[in-house]
Amino acid sequence: MFPLRRNRRLRTNKTIRSLVRETILSPSDFIVPLFVVEGKNVKEEIPSMPNYFRLSLDLLEKEVKELAKLNLKTVLVFVKVPDHLKDNKGTEALNPNGLMQRAVKVIKNAVPDMIVMTDVALDPYSSFGHDGVIENGIIVNDITTALLAEMSCSHAEAGADIVAPSDMMDGRILEIREALEDEGYLNTGILAYSAKYASAHYGPFRDALDSAPVDAQDIPKDKKTYQMDYHNRLEAIRETRMDIEEGADIVMVKPGIAYLDIVREIKNTFDVPVAVYQVSGEYAMIKAAAEKGWLDHDAVMMEQVTAIKRAGADMMASYFAKEVVKIIS
Ligand code: PBG
Repeated sequence: MFPLRRNRRLRTNKTIRSLVRETILSPSDFIVPLFVVEGKNVKEEIPSMPNYFRLSLDLLEKEVKELAKLNLKTVLVFVKVPDHLKDNKGTEALNPNGLMQRAVKVIKNAVPDMIVMTDVALDPYSSFGHDGVIENGIIVNDITTALLAEMSCSHAEAGADIVAPSDMMDGRILEIREALEDEGYLNTGILAYSAKYASAHYGPFRDALDSAPVDAQDIPKDKKTYQMDYHNRLEAIRETRMDIEEGADIVMVKPGIAYLDIVREIKNTFDVPVAVYQVSGEYAMIKAAAEKGWLDHDAVMMEQVTAIKRAGADMMASYFAKEVVKIIS
């Protein structure tokens, strides 16, 4: 008999295709990244991220209410810190009345059941644009992890549900977990950027926060001494295993599309929830190609976010979250 099997039978029409569909997106798959700035009534479009904005606290409040209406109930908060508040140790990060701490309160006040994740890293606060303290041209691991632990407690104090260290220092998950336990924040979770690669896809994000490594003598030009080498796969398993042992509740792979082999492997290897970050450069590429009329924006967007879930992501941070949810609901 030929053909042995007619696989096309289950693709005959839209209804039957949806009957056998394996991967379905829902609003609860998404984490919405938010960029926050000082000021009032500020809504600044990020030039390399069309239709994505930095918001002041008053507009942040409006935004999270709108997200909640779309059933987008998890946000990941980043702040743009004015230059005069930046230094080598990211001192401002520990200010109990800093922009991040105020942002968390504004969000929790506006939408009490919104899950608030906070970025824990020094780079937006660092005068050198690095995720760690620099001494003699070197990013010093253990001084940095102590600061990240303090920063995490400060975010927990402000009301963060989950802290999200994005720095890639060694041992920071254990240090953060111990600090949270010591201070009584037993229910504050940790989303660990476990397999975060030194990627060229972060450029637009660094524009958004003005957080790129500075070009100065004795300052490393890139983040390759702490973020992972993209030639490696086993290293991602090792990093993830250690973060889980140290107390990570959720592990993350970053970026998304170019790293879906890693996502699947981590999903198959471990038993904790896996997150993916579809990063700024991935967003920018789709926006730019669509602007030129070279790609169908919505079709490519849906294909990529679905591929991320199909690869094994239990959740994803995506700048497309709102646009996707408007299409699927
Ligand atoms: C830095 C950080 C980066 C992103 C999230 N946290 C950039 C970097 O490592 O330089 C990138 C996110 C994106 O590109 O969307 N701690």
